[in-house]
Amino acid sequence: MQVSNSRSSKMLISLLAPPLLSLSVVALTFPAKLLYQDPSGLFLENMAVRPSGDILITSVASPTLFSFNPTVRNATLDKVYTFPDCTSLTGVIEYKPDVYAVVASTINITTRRADPGSISVWTFKLQGRAPSAQRIAVIANSTLLDGISLVPGNPNLVLAGDPGAGTVWQINLVTGAHSIIVQDAAMAPGAPPPALGINGLHMQDERLFYSNGQLETFNSVLLAVDGDEVSRAGDSLTLNNVNPVGVDHQYDDFTFDSQGRIWVATHTGAVTLLTPQSDGTLLSQTVAGSETGPSLFNEPTSARFGRGTCAQEALLYVITATGQVIAVDTTASASETASCRS
Ligand SMILES: *[C@@H]1O[C@H](CO)[C@@H](O)[C@H](O)[C@H]1NC(C)=O
Ligand SMILES: *[C@@H]1O[C@H](CO)[C@@H](O)[C@H](O)[C@H]1NC(C)=O
Ligand SMILES: *[C@@H]1O[C@H](CO)[C@@H](O)[C@H](O)[C@H]1NC(C)=O
Repeated sequence: MQVSNSRSSKMLISLLAPPLLSLSVVALTFPAKLLYQDPSGLFLENMAVRPSGDILITSVASPTLFSFNPTVRNATLDKVYTFPDCTSLTGVIEYKPDVYAVVASTINITTRRADPGSISVWTFKLQGRAPSAQRIAVIANSTLLDGISLVPGNPNLVLAGDPGAGTVWQINLVTGAHSIIVQDAAMAPGAPPPALGINGLHMQDERLFYSNGQLETFNSVLLAVDGDEVSRAGDSLTLNNVNPVGVDHQYDDFTFDSQGRIWVATHTGAVTLLTPQSDGTLLSQTVAGSETGPSLFNEPTSARFGRGTCAQEALLYVITATGQVIAVDTTASASETASCRS
């Protein structure tokens, strides 16, 4: 996909945020700024923002975890750690202060499936001294592990989605125990490889929200957490199905804001805001970039809010499969945390 530079620079100049229409529904486009373009177009996949505000970034085309400091001019991707026996990193998430779970594997870029036996889940510690990594589990019976989620109330567990098989695994980061907890048609790709099903997934309270890239849906399923065991407690609900004919609208990874709204990195070139409605559905709005025309965003894969200061908490960072790091200024959406609003 080609990116129009003239359009990009125009976006920066012209997008002064109009006033809010209401607290929950924001009909506007937020200013976006390209902070970094990898010279080789490195496929950036997932990220976690450190307490310091530095952004850890994974790539499906590299075994190296990178760090990006969004507060300095012309920041670049700094190498933090290279994981052994793999070619790709996918999901990364902070599950204890400055301690992360990272998924490593060897992915065949053509089929978008991992080589059998190549998938492992690691803990990666940045607290204190030098970074340290420990392989916790080898997930032998999975086709690919991509998105990763915390389990509210149990810091030892994470969930990871298999977009090839349409399953969600639970992984115990202390014991390495792992098992499939949900298998669902709403998580599976609707087409053979290289199509991908479940992509981003995040638990909010007892509900697991997840996107399905190939089906272009956003869904949720109720889970029950009983000690170290997570299990399914309801049917999958499709909350939103925006699938206009001829428009590629593949939801990728996403993040919640303090008001429960969901900010989604959407292929091929947009950020989508999903706002919960009183009837349980989600209102879908394009709030940065475009799904139909030229866009600054070229294949967004993940979105996370900044950390460390109130100014950072209002910035939504988006990475793309074409090596971009983009900052979206969401100040006009009042998405900051309560402490920053007061
Ligand atoms: C950042 O990059 C721009 C464009 O390449 C350059 O003009 C500018 O001098 C750089 N700024 C710093 C602080 O390096
Ligand atoms: C990726 O998979 C395709 C189709 O099975 C195969 O032809 C190709 O050799 C694989 N590539 C690598 C690097 O293994
Ligand atoms: C691997 O997964 C398949 C499909 O989910 C299942 O039928 C099979 O029992 C699993 N094998 C192992 C060793 O877990």
